[in-house]
Amino acid sequence: MSKNVNIAILGATGAVGKELLELLAERKFPIKNLKLLASPRSAGSTVTFKSQEIIVEAVQDNSFEDVDIVLASAGGSTSKAWAKKAVAAGAVVIDNSSAFRMDDTVPLIVPEINPEAAVNHQGIIANPNCTTILMGVAIYPLHQIQPIKRVVVATYQSASGAGARAMEEAKIQARDILDGKEPKAEILPYPIAFNLFPHNSPLDDQGYCEEEMKMVNETRKIFNSPEIRVSATCVRVPILRAHSETVNIEFEQPFPVEKARELIAAAPGVKLVEDWQSNYFPMPIDATGQDPVLVGRIRQDISHDCGLELWLCGDQIRKGAALNAIQIAELLLDKNLLSVSDSAVSV
Ligand code: A2P
Repeated sequence: MSKNVNIAILGATGAVGKELLELLAERKFPIKNLKLLASPRSAGSTVTFKSQEIIVEAVQDNSFEDVDIVLASAGGSTSKAWAKKAVAAGAVVIDNSSAFRMDDTVPLIVPEINPEAAVNHQGIIANPNCTTILMGVAIYPLHQIQPIKRVVVATYQSASGAGARAMEEAKIQARDILDGKEPKAEILPYPIAFNLFPHNSPLDDQGYCEEEMKMVNETRKIFNSPEIRVSATCVRVPILRAHSETVNIEFEQPFPVEKARELIAAAPGVKLVEDWQSNYFPMPIDATGQDPVLVGRIRQDISHDCGLELWLCGDQIRKGAALNAIQIAELLLDKNLLSVSDSAVSV
């Protein structure tokens, strides 16, 4: 990575936007100019980046002039409104929302799994759903050795997935409950402090919610394996920013547990955390602020000869969102994939 590039963060004042700023500094991303964009609500406020104060601007038509990479994390409707305009202005958009993930012309990338998909981008690259990324990096090393037939996953998702205001609301609710007051829920639909509830995204006719179907469809697209069967149950839990998942994996043939452990221990983006003597395994507090997905409790499924069980925790804001987006940006620089072909404008 030698060339310095112009970066814009769309959604710079949000939970993921703030993490993007930290990671750009931490990873010494080669930045020429950094533009911070948000809604008119935050226009004029300042954000400190590498001890420099940068003024946040309201996104507008000329915001993307001279921008090489837009890191977008301002929700689906904002991405739909601005991504194509940014591409038309000559930028590559790495979009953290679900707006374009299942679009056939948009690569959906986890750099540890399918970096090659970036080659054919037409201006927009989608960052997958957080729970899908965390599960993907953990189970892909096994899938490479023996194709996965079926996955049954349950998630334990933190408030951060609903943004910075949901995290703040969770803290206020906890204080209110401890003070004997009635907790108020305004961002998430129900109180999350001292509570949990099935994920609040819209339900389909089969009884699955949108978040669960993201795990189904996005896993198939990232693994380039449309035949993998996935069933997910997504649950919001009273945790601030790391997600956890129990994952049951079924193969065609038995998969030796020791082999699975070796593969996961050696895989990029993953850290094996298992101390069977003291019953110590990944926890959200250990995953918080960490880059790797922590994986443990890898064991034979006693109900199925060809099944494995595992448990994982990963920082939703880092690998589940901001870190994966920055890794995609690094990939674009490394492979010299910043130039957008003429077809980009018609994405
Ligand atoms: P703002 O702070 O001005 O509302 P989170 O996911 O943590 O809730 O953050 C959402 C991010 O997306 C924030 O930076 C927010 O900016 C930004 N955002 C929300 N709606 C818009 C919009 N219509 N246009 C531009 N940025 C938006």
